[in-house]
Amino acid sequence: MKKTHNELIDGIKALPPFPVVFVTVGKNIMVAGAFHFFSYNPPSVMVGIKPEKYTYELIKSMKEFAINIPSKEQLDSIKICGSLSGRKEDNKYERAGLTHKQGNKINSYIVNECSVNLECEVVHEIDFDGSHKWFIGEIKQVHVDENYRRSDTLMFWLGQFREVGALIEGRKDEDIFL
Ligand SMILES: Cc1cc2nc3c(=O)[nH]c(=O)nc-3n(C[C@H](O)[C@H](O)[C@H](O)COP(=O)(O)O)c2cc1C
Repeated sequence: MKKTHNELIDGIKALPPFPVVFVTVGKNIMVAGAFHFFSYNPPSVMVGIKPEKYTYELIKSMKEFAINIPSKEQLDSIKICGSLSGRKEDNKYERAGLTHKQGNKINSYIVNECSVNLECEVVHEIDFDGSHKWFIGEIKQVHVDENYRRSDTLMFWLGQFREVGALIEGRKDEDIFL
């Protein structure tokens, strides 16, 4: 039996999990679960950052960011980068056991240990007075490790970390990427 909820936030709580990513900008790194595909053409993604985060300040000024897709083995690094602020801790990478290099098309770092790095230029900011400020980033450079498998990635919502489920229909990752 379906129950009608008066608490509208329950509609958000009921959503399935989202991919969790490292967002890098300048020399900083943070974690975002508010991340989504936005457009095929031009290839663009969107990320939601709370305005009080250091990352928000950096994206506003640099107009760029990178999305780095972690594997489920990197959960400890996710917890570290998702709890320390770059305002107080200037070497989150080292604390999280991660290394970086500068992107090709952006001035910000990308994460060496992530199989996928998307270098993005901010093309739009959504002007909406919500909890998260959404930045739309047009992808300017893509790095994908040949051993990357979607099944190695990690999903997150409401404090729950999950694996990606089994493929039930469609092409295998190796037929799409290689
Ligand atoms: C699993 C997980 C998901 C998160 N998702 C978001 C998010 O989507 N947006 C956001 O602003 N903060 C999110 N956070 C919190 C930030 O990553 C965290 O506050 C971080 O320390 C901010 O760093 P900064 O102040 O250096 O930008 C998340 C944290 C975790 C652990």
